[in-house]
Amino acid sequence: MEKEKFYVTTPIYYVNDVPHIGHAYTSLACDVLARFARLSGKDVMFLTGTDEHGQKIEQSAKKNGKNTQEFVDQNAVFFKDMNKIMNISANDFIRTTEERHKKSVSYFWSKLEKAGAIYEGKYCGWYCVRDEAFYAEDELTEQGKAPTGADVEWVEEPSYFFALSKYQDRLLKFYEENPNFVKTRSRYNEVINFVKSGLMDLSISRTSFSWGIKVQGDEKHVVYVWLDALSNYISALGYPEDANGLYRRFWPADVHVVGKDILRFHAVYWPAFLMAAGIELPKTIMAHGWWTNDGEKISKSLGNVIDPIALVNEFGLDQVRYFLMRGVNFGNDGNYSRNAITVTSNAELANKIGNLLQRSLSFIYKYCNEAIPNILDIDAIYQQTIMQNIANIVLDNKIVMDNFEINKFLENIITIAEDANSYMENKSPWSLKNSNPSEMNKILYTMVEVARYIAIMLQAVTPDSATKMLNQLAVPIEERSFLHLSKEYALAGGTKINHPEPIFHKIDI
Ligand code: MSP
Repeated sequence: MEKEKFYVTTPIYYVNDVPHIGHAYTSLACDVLARFARLSGKDVMFLTGTDEHGQKIEQSAKKNGKNTQEFVDQNAVFFKDMNKIMNISANDFIRTTEERHKKSVSYFWSKLEKAGAIYEGKYCGWYCVRDEAFYAEDELTEQGKAPTGADVEWVEEPSYFFALSKYQDRLLKFYEENPNFVKTRSRYNEVINFVKSGLMDLSISRTSFSWGIKVQGDEKHVVYVWLDALSNYISALGYPEDANGLYRRFWPADVHVVGKDILRFHAVYWPAFLMAAGIELPKTIMAHGWWTNDGEKISKSLGNVIDPIALVNEFGLDQVRYFLMRGVNFGNDGNYSRNAITVTSNAELANKIGNLLQRSLSFIYKYCNEAIPNILDIDAIYQQTIMQNIANIVLDNKIVMDNFEINKFLENIITIAEDANSYMENKSPWSLKNSNPSEMNKILYTMVEVARYIAIMLQAVTPDSATKMLNQLAVPIEERSFLHLSKEYALAGGTKINHPEPIFHKIDI
């Protein structure tokens, strides 16, 4: 049987700046979804990349006294490095200045043109370079700023327009028929209200600067950076030629993960472009919230930007990955603080999970001849309440992850660890060493079998540490996917283990 496919994307990041916690967070969430899907046996395409055209990038290059191409080449490297440092398992990294992307965008434009969705005109209105967005007069704040607080400027220039207004009804019908198209629920409603309030045609080319993809046949114009950028989701798959069959295999995307600030582009403009080009729409747009730093909005002017690489250096990679996924309901805003990351990591990774593994393995190492205890009646192990609870949690974890509730997935794992730690306290295997060694073996075996479940699941979020756990438990490499979360693959009694070493260090407060 052919494997089910899963296609997940991050937004592509502007290269005017170095990566910050927001970029790391979006990529990390996608990474967890991708790893979860691979562990579930799916064929996964995970795409990320950089957004390198437009006025903002052109201006930043100038400000830095650099040639624009050199500037983007240099900055794109920081994002590739971030992926390595954060252990992001993307299958491809697309840059919008690549030939493969430019060709694809030109073709996509010609499809929109043939569909009669593009016309020539003149744009007179507000433009915000920081957001790379056009704003209507009534969207501006009292101080005359963009709704995001950024400066706007008045623009008058010849422009091509996309006939967005023609798609209003089709979009509304589509949302109604696909209630899961935008997640979460409140964001879905927000999108519908925006579209209901009336859509204006969208300017899709610029003429007052040149850093972009030239409009074929009218080279004074460059393609509007958002039309250019959104197309990355299909250009990277090889649209339209599809020489490697990736487009056929993976499109439509299962989920575009985006921050709440760029929802409109993904949930309104992108589907309208695709409708016009006769291309299937992505299945879900998942909008996540924003991080604040000690309760304050993160911004360069406040000087409180968080460098994800510094966090990893200070707290450890899996500690950071765990905290970012655990510290907030995916979709809501989250608050970063040194205290929060320290407390979460110490209380859950070190004290609950680390403790379970370390105590049970040390005991086994010492009292069971350095080998997993032999169990004659594995059914008796699995009939215990603790193992039955785990079976339910494994099922529930599939449901919560289909819903992108990464923090619930982790909460479930922590519940298992807590249960196992209380099980150990209640049963006090240490007291049975002489009086009832077979009962002691049963308890110890149960503990490490529980740890096996935890480690297999944790591979989605803290892959390095989970691998170390599985190595300590001597789980064969080919038995580490979700398929192996069952009695049939229970730990083999008699398997030798190495001297157990703590996996999650405690962070000093
Ligand atoms: N280039 C566009 C996306 C084009 S996708 C076709 C863009 N780039 S960005 O670099 O500005 O932002 C990328 C992502 O980072 C967005 O999803 C944004 O929401 C996210 N974040 C930026 N700051 C953030 C926080 N403080 N917290 C969480 N995520 C934030 O937009």
